[in-house]
Amino acid sequence: MLPDLMPRPAAITPDAYAKRRAALMAELPANAAVLIPGASLATRSRDSEYPFRQNSDFYYLTGIVEPDALLVLLPGRAEGQSVVFCQNRDPLWEAWTGRRLGAVGMEAEHEVDDAYENAERDARLSALLAGREQLFVPFDDPEALALAEQVYAETEAGRRRGMPPVSGFHDVNPLIHAMRLIKSDDEITLMRHAAEISARAHCRAMRASKAGLSEYHLQAEIEHEFVWQGGSGPAYSTIVGGGDNGCVLHYVENCSPLGEGDLVLIDAGAEFDLYAGDITRTFPVSGTFSEAQREVYETVLAAQEGAVAAIKPGATLNQIHAGVVRDLTAGLVKLGLLDGEVDERMADNSYRRFYLHSTSHWLGLDVHDVGAYRLDADTPVPLEVGMVLTVEPGLYIPDAEDIPEPYRGMGIRIEDDVVVTATGHDVLTAGVPKRVAEIEMLMANK
Ligand code: GLY
Ligand code: MN
Ligand code: MN
Repeated sequence: MLPDLMPRPAAITPDAYAKRRAALMAELPANAAVLIPGASLATRSRDSEYPFRQNSDFYYLTGIVEPDALLVLLPGRAEGQSVVFCQNRDPLWEAWTGRRLGAVGMEAEHEVDDAYENAERDARLSALLAGREQLFVPFDDPEALALAEQVYAETEAGRRRGMPPVSGFHDVNPLIHAMRLIKSDDEITLMRHAAEISARAHCRAMRASKAGLSEYHLQAEIEHEFVWQGGSGPAYSTIVGGGDNGCVLHYVENCSPLGEGDLVLIDAGAEFDLYAGDITRTFPVSGTFSEAQREVYETVLAAQEGAVAAIKPGATLNQIHAGVVRDLTAGLVKLGLLDGEVDERMADNSYRRFYLHSTSHWLGLDVHDVGAYRLDADTPVPLEVGMVLTVEPGLYIPDAEDIPEPYRGMGIRIEDDVVVTATGHDVLTAGVPKRVAEIEMLMANK
């Protein structure tokens, strides 16, 4: 038996994907069709490709992970509403690049109504789309837009034979993204798993940390755990910033030595079944916070815990961020890093020298997940049961002359993943400590 393996949660069933497609189709006007291309392989260098990552919207509606597929939704079609075009079976290609389902396998494994090989795509599309006047495609996808143009040209030609051409083009993204914003129970199960793998990885990095290692050693500990537990790897580029590298928000070089008295900031999350974890912890390289480090850390922690506590249905990300800004600004004044009154320092934005990002983003199949943040220019989206968000305040104190010496070059962020529940919230990433005493104890006991 291999050590310490977490049980894998069940995958989402083909039936659940079919229900999502039905829910999307229920939103469409009469005579509509939807075209959503999946992702293709991307070249890394010459003959090498990046590992395949499916387009999140396509995956959300199909569960299919093969490249170069196309989903066509045809509400009301008697022979079946969900059609997929896919790669053909090809023993020679499959010997090089792996198994393909082919059209027969797609219908059997993914329970779509009809599947055809890509070679048949152009010939079949115009027949499938005959009489469909409203075409929904993702407007941010050049391949989908090119396909929409092609469909228009073909249906326009059909006008001479008495067929109505496509007359309306619509962006399908807002419809799918509104669905993705509210996670189902089976999605939350997968997200909890991604979060728990991520939490274990952070604990592992805390245990391994010591002066003399470099940032990439902790990256290796983190990413080992992601893959060991069956994740596909990091959901985004792992950030390990020792010392003032922690002040660089998107620091991914991870190449510096870890210094004895420094803090190290790790922002890393596993991807599991395409769902992202997203955790940040900041801890002392050698296991014990200095007095100045503890003061700043406790300031960020209090703001973070206050923000998590405020999460419940009806609250908004704006309110949560405003509370964080107040707490951090009050902390900065108390630490002597800002002068004067808290309200004034909030009003003149001087806190932004130390806290320049927002507190939360949606989390799901994408680490910065889709879904609107505002209903209109003045109205933030109220939180609802099933939404998943991050809470990630930080303080980034520059290594500058006017900063008191003990605080210089300190970057501290604390980030958890939180699901909104009927009674408030549930922290998915509670498996990795964030209180000072808990971190010090974990690091002391290795
Ligand atoms: N890791 C990206 C973020 O925290 O937003
Ligand atoms: Mn985040
Ligand atoms: Mn993060």
